[in-house]
Amino acid sequence: MAEEIEEAEVELEARLEDQETFEPPESFVEQANVTDESIYEEFEEEWPQCWEQAADLLEWDEPYDTVLEDEEAPFYEWFTGGELNASYNCLDRHVEDGAKNRAAIKWEGELGETRTYTYGDLLNEVEAFAAALRDLGVEEDDVVTLYMPMIPELPIAMLACARIGAPHSVVFAGFSAEALATRMNSADSEYLVTCDGYYRRGDALNHKEKTDKGLRQVDHDVTSIVVDRLGDELTHFLGENAYDYDDLVTEHEGASVEPVSRDAEDMLFLMYTSGTTGKPKGVKHTTGGYLSYATWTSHAVLDIEPEDTYWCSADIGWITGHSYIVYGPLALGTTTVMYEGTPDYPERDRFWEIVENHRVDIFYTAPTAIRAFMKWGAEYPERHDLSSLRLLGTVGEPINPRAWKWYYKYIGNEECPIVDTWWQTETGGMMVTTLPGVCTMKPGSAGPPLPGVDARIVDAAGEEVEPGEAGYLTVQKPWPGMLRTLYDNDERFISEYWQEYSDEDADEWVYFPEDGAKIDGDGYVTVLGRVDDVINVSGHRLGTMEVESAIVGVSGVAEAAVVGGDHDLKGEAVYAYVILEDGQEPTDAMRERIVDGVVDAIGPIARPEEVVFTPELPKTRSGKIMRRLLEDIASGNELGNTSTLRNPEIVDEIAQRVGDD
Ligand code: WT7
Repeated sequence: MAEEIEEAEVELEARLEDQETFEPPESFVEQANVTDESIYEEFEEEWPQCWEQAADLLEWDEPYDTVLEDEEAPFYEWFTGGELNASYNCLDRHVEDGAKNRAAIKWEGELGETRTYTYGDLLNEVEAFAAALRDLGVEEDDVVTLYMPMIPELPIAMLACARIGAPHSVVFAGFSAEALATRMNSADSEYLVTCDGYYRRGDALNHKEKTDKGLRQVDHDVTSIVVDRLGDELTHFLGENAYDYDDLVTEHEGASVEPVSRDAEDMLFLMYTSGTTGKPKGVKHTTGGYLSYATWTSHAVLDIEPEDTYWCSADIGWITGHSYIVYGPLALGTTTVMYEGTPDYPERDRFWEIVENHRVDIFYTAPTAIRAFMKWGAEYPERHDLSSLRLLGTVGEPINPRAWKWYYKYIGNEECPIVDTWWQTETGGMMVTTLPGVCTMKPGSAGPPLPGVDARIVDAAGEEVEPGEAGYLTVQKPWPGMLRTLYDNDERFISEYWQEYSDEDADEWVYFPEDGAKIDGDGYVTVLGRVDDVINVSGHRLGTMEVESAIVGVSGVAEAAVVGGDHDLKGEAVYAYVILEDGQEPTDAMRERIVDGVVDAIGPIARPEEVVFTPELPKTRSGKIMRRLLEDIASGNELGNTSTLRNPEIVDEIAQRVGDD
């Protein structure tokens, strides 16, 4: 791990060259939700009571009696005794407050169709669909899997589940049939909402076929509901135990479904994510803590007001979409934009066209997208009037100062603060970032930990490092949005996140997110990247073991090592080094089978950039694969010392092959 940190440091030096800082524009500060820097001190002094400010943004059916319950740490509980319903907080209360006709969701399909749901419309459809789910047998605490692309029925299904107290488990639509089955089996999920297909770069993709293939691998009976997204473009047959979404909604139109009062600690949803081992982890988020935290950070960091039109370009299949397309923005009663397609369809100005047409106030995206925009050039944003924008945000991976400045200048016209937000699936919401109405911005550095968040950088022994030194990011106090456990696996929850730096005997618990970082004299954190075997491809998390096991599953493959290599647009890309079984030929056909194997097992996001055939992998004398050397080869870095290897001669040979292919 230490070596990973060293390497990341070298990259950092390049990132922070000619460090410039930026003050939040006056025009922004004048109207910001949070402008008083004393909030940092206040949250520290009044911790954990400070988090009542987050809970106060919601309406509770039953007030909580304890803010933080730490008896069973690290199985912390937040707002215990409280009861609430997430769909009530995202819908009914706004309608009751007179916002029935305010747009809740503005959706744009890839081909240009638009649909607007007011808060009133959304509530009606959520109630109808909730009634349908109940009719089909869904009960409180049943996990409902949602396998859908960016169509309005996805947030509608999420809110319908929340309304009746059924946790949802959203599986990213780009994931494979096998990935769907693994997640449904793991969560014992007997209900699935899916769709026939959707558009990608103008083509109609068949999603139902993939769903059916996945369902054949689920080891229990499943009731499914299919949204007809494509109409005549793609005919589909419902099949056994399957229902049409529109039919169900029509049948239940006008239904009134009381929101179920959920205990603050009741599960709101599961979200599967990748870790070091091959098996995805089912991260459990709760109703009270998660919703409070997503809403609070949407208010304090994204500066969302009900009058705003807000757009986060992430996919709802990831945590960013859960917290910052659906739950946070809707809990605040704002208008949230959803876009089905890609940024370059039909042209490379599609995003800026959306910003202009909808007069978007706040825009939140990923560095990988910004790098693509930068490469395409300023002419695309320059075609559009982006003057409605007030705040910009990024998430998913480090943003280098060059991309930061491009975003600041060409998208924000030097008038919008940028929030670079560090967080994870597990944290539920943002953890380290500037408060846009308070803090100076330093491109390349995410900023200080948010008020009430006790993030510290430590060395391998757990001691805090000096400013400027690289170390490991830790969080030393719990926070409301934290994951509560891994589904059905408390042991793995402890071993993955708490074992490294906690002192169990002293009952002192330290959360380890598996990122390297450094801190400067002003307390600003610069995140260096993962220190475990997870690669970050375009802001998406992939476990190298997951990819390796997919490759080894291809017949004729003997062994595989997968690492991340630097990539201009994706940040990191998948590099696979493969040893074939004796007698197998390293042909293009074999390479294709390997790539297909990975896409089938995980999805196109895991598609290897390069498959390198090699007779051996570089191994230490004790037989451990030297992954770092493989990473250096993939990134085209200078190769370090190979003298500790059992087979040093193989390194040059592999490096040669990477160039050749
Ligand atoms: C990992 C979490 C949070 C939603 C999207 C990804 C990396 C995330 C930043 C940032 C540097 C970042 C970390 C983290 N990451 N945001 N602003 N600067 N790195 O969620 O799939 O759970 O991945 O993404 O490495 O651990 P995720």
